[in-house]
Amino acid sequence: MSDIAVVTGASGGIGAAISQLIHAKSDGQLKLCLHYNSNAESAQKVQAGIPGSFLVQADLSLSQGRRRLMAAVLAEGTPYCLVNNAGIDKPHEPALMIEESSYEKIMDANLRAPLFLMRDFAKEMARNESGVIVNISSILARKAVVGSAVYRASKAALEALTLQFAHELGPKGLRIVAIAPGFIETSMTAAIPEESRAAIREDAALGSFGSPESVAETVWHAIENQYLTGAVIAVDGGMGL
Ligand SMILES: NC(=O)c1ccc[n+]([C@@H]2O[C@H](COP(=O)([O-])OP(=O)(O)OC[C@H]3O[C@@H](n4cnc5c(N)ncnc54)[C@H](OP(=O)(O)O)[C@@H]3O)[C@@H](O)[C@H]2O)c1
Repeated sequence: MSDIAVVTGASGGIGAAISQLIHAKSDGQLKLCLHYNSNAESAQKVQAGIPGSFLVQADLSLSQGRRRLMAAVLAEGTPYCLVNNAGIDKPHEPALMIEESSYEKIMDANLRAPLFLMRDFAKEMARNESGVIVNISSILARKAVVGSAVYRASKAALEALTLQFAHELGPKGLRIVAIAPGFIETSMTAAIPEESRAAIREDAALGSFGSPESVAETVWHAIENQYLTGAVIAVDGGMGL
């Protein structure tokens, strides 16, 4: 049985780059579990470039989806690494227009799903006293942008959970790290109009959007560095300094 690296949302821009880099850097030591929800076509393209990887479809907002992912992983081997990358940022609603249904949708995908995946995967990893969990947060956990209140709250809470799990699970040999990207070119940001893009670029010290690969490099660093835990690492080009 193999050591497995699970990447949730591997059908999306950042998840695909993370999956490809883990495969390339781990030199066949980690078998990739590529999770997707609705975009099977994109997931299949990613899988085609990663020999030995396997796909799992699941809506991670639902406990049955999370159970399905865990069962598929245990059938293939032992989880060593979990990257909680799947997430949504919409609907965008100004503070006075937030709907309860939007709150539930964003919180279920961005907070409930990674929380209970962490709980369940950490139990498995603790049996072997080794494992690493990387949670993909956002610069918006610490920055106000109109329409992002619930998204911001979900990512800020995910960062708090990262520190809490790192504290409680370090003694069991597990490491938990969060990575907070700035604005990265993916389908999530593709619809942002040009005038807003110009303002976002100006806000970054480096004057540009980031690439999915820049986030993936830091995920790999978190997996490799055995003394890194309980940290939130920004990959944002110096945005809002
Ligand atoms: N792009 C940015 O600028 C940026 C900045 C900061 C943080 N982030 C974070 O980075 C992560 C990846 O974002 P991205 O830019 O790569 O976005 P993306 O291309 O839209 O990908 C999002 C991924 O999440 C999956 N997903 C969404 N809802 C799900 C659910 N209920 N259950 C299971 N999977 C679900 C999607 O699966 P399907 O497509 O298969 O349905 C997709 O694979 C997110 O957590 C996001 O908040 C992004």
